[in-house]
Amino acid sequence: MIPQAKIDEIIQAANIEQVIGDYVRLKRRGANLTGLCPFHSEKSPSFSVSPAKGIFKCFGCGKAGNVVNFVMEHDSLGYIPALKHLAEKFNVEWPQQEFVNVDEERKQRDEKESLQILNNWANDYFQDILWQNETGQAVGLSYFENRGFRHDTIKKFNLGFSLDSWSAFFDKAIANQFSEELLFSSGLVKHKEDGKKFDAYRGRVIFPIHNLNGKVIAFAGRYLKKEPNSPKYVNSPETILYHKSNELYGLYFAKNEIRKQDSVYLVEGYTDVISMHQSGVENVVASSGTSLTEGQIRLIKRFTENVTVLFDGDAAGIKASIRGIDMLLEQGLNVRVLTFPDGDDPDSYSQKVGSDAFKEYLETKRQDFIVFKVNLLLNDAGNDPIKKATVTRDIVESISKIPDSIKRSVFVNECARLMSIDEQVLLVELNKLRKQFLTDKDREQQQQQRNTESNDPFEGFEPTPEQGYADDLQDTLNNSSIFDEQERDLIRLIINFANKTVNETETAASYLLRKLIEKEIEIDHPIVTLILDETYHVIERGEIVDDRFFTNHQNPLITALAADMLAREYILSPNWEKRAAVKMDSFFKDTKADIDSAILHLQIKYINKLIVKNQKELKPELSEEDFELHQRVHMDLTKKRNELTKKIGTVIVK
Ligand code: CTP
Ligand code: MN
Repeated sequence: MIPQAKIDEIIQAANIEQVIGDYVRLKRRGANLTGLCPFHSEKSPSFSVSPAKGIFKCFGCGKAGNVVNFVMEHDSLGYIPALKHLAEKFNVEWPQQEFVNVDEERKQRDEKESLQILNNWANDYFQDILWQNETGQAVGLSYFENRGFRHDTIKKFNLGFSLDSWSAFFDKAIANQFSEELLFSSGLVKHKEDGKKFDAYRGRVIFPIHNLNGKVIAFAGRYLKKEPNSPKYVNSPETILYHKSNELYGLYFAKNEIRKQDSVYLVEGYTDVISMHQSGVENVVASSGTSLTEGQIRLIKRFTENVTVLFDGDAAGIKASIRGIDMLLEQGLNVRVLTFPDGDDPDSYSQKVGSDAFKEYLETKRQDFIVFKVNLLLNDAGNDPIKKATVTRDIVESISKIPDSIKRSVFVNECARLMSIDEQVLLVELNKLRKQFLTDKDREQQQQQRNTESNDPFEGFEPTPEQGYADDLQDTLNNSSIFDEQERDLIRLIINFANKTVNETETAASYLLRKLIEKEIEIDHPIVTLILDETYHVIERGEIVDDRFFTNHQNPLITALAADMLAREYILSPNWEKRAAVKMDSFFKDTKADIDSAILHLQIKYINKLIVKNQKELKPELSEEDFELHQRVHMDLTKKRNELTKKIGTVIVK
């Protein structure tokens, strides 16, 4: 990643007057310089440079930016090449790149292939033992049979058996030319403390774990009866083939059905998956006992957005796991849940009641997660007001994770009703939690995306085509339909007046951010959210948001945007002196009033969006309950819109 300090250093060293002066004859005009714009043909100069601010702006064609933007635009370069060009020109040392180690790559590929060959072989071996070996049949096969697994099911999932011997597997593998080193790295063979080797899965039934393409990438081995001091399952360690947090047991066998049904059942254990398949429910995967990871959720999302989580029977366990479910909401999934009678899990219950009754149970007993959670927690809280307040916060926290605004407002409405609470109370709590443009999460994700995929430390910072290359970048900037006027105004206010005080305690930036958090507002444009987000973090760190922060930013679209906003306030257009003079007036206008007005407009815009969305969803085929709910939401929203409209004193055009 390119350090901000390096960017600052390059921009500092690069003299914008000199860089632009190589192509444009600049004449001094007050604090600024003007000349004929190099980006469009003109006879009288509308192109200005402000050396003090480090920016340029053409009032003719609209192009604007810092010195890096100029080079990008003029030489048709990407962001990094433009920076590099400036570093060379002004003798700033460019950090050494790390080069890909070709040998290392080849070695890894070979290791992967060898491990896959071993796993394939072991998979065959364990199945052979189960079906052909006398002990295998007597112990392993009969264990599965006793659990009610049919032969076709056992074969489908490649279940196997490992003999209860210290080295039967090891010896056979060595005889088949597998190296000791490979056997250890696979986790199939282990060392004792005294150095003695042993078969890790000895005496266990084997559940191979398949990846999305059906390749066996790991093994789980279950003991046959409870053994003290021995774990129920031995699992493969992390290997180059197996990253536990990115795999879901059963996905390979489930994926077609998940697509077909557009929904997936999520269970805990291997045996749950297998029994459900046997009952004819094939869209099922297991998290393998741990809470879901983000990688696993992403995997699910490739196939469906509808998840039903099946809980084992006991209440304590359910409470422990509902926390993890917020993560599913956060990723935009529709979550339903279903519990089984105490003591049962999907495996035992499906075997107990049989296929038809089991399927019916799944269909009829599942509930929406939020509603389920409200009921569960309310039951616990009883009439205790303090407990009830905690429940409220807890529920609101779950709702706040849902990215879709219409779903959020439906849930707020529904929960208010279930909890007999004023909807406003929930909304205030919700909006406090929902600082969606300030989430650290998005940042982390962006960062991760930048960091992966490449050995070139700078490559991740090459802007994406839509925001990166000079032409597109300036087009984006000039295309006013991309920014909504009020969003543009927010940015203008922040970039120009971030530090101006607006009341006894707040600067314009902190006042604006607080208002955004308090009100119901959704910002659409990623650049706007990014700017708000960054501003928030700078303020949080107790630092000052100055214009250099924006004009030196890593993202060239932000630097261009900042230059544009600054130029509108600071540079007098050579041709448009009168207009610009009017503009200058705005500098002295009431910043607080500007912020209030922008926020009000954004609020109304957001509510309008909700109304439209809600209306789209209001279809006759909705259940009666849902239909009513949507109608209530509609009434609430229009009422709110009318109140706001009155405040602003304008007529809202639909
Ligand atoms: N698990 C594990 N290691 C353990 C216990 C559990 O990896 N020591 C994981 C396994 O993926 C297991 C899941 O957690 O499938 C659920 O655990 P559990 O319900 O105990 O096992 P089941 O597979 O359901 O086995 P059984 O039906 O025989 O109890
Ligand atoms: Mn279980």
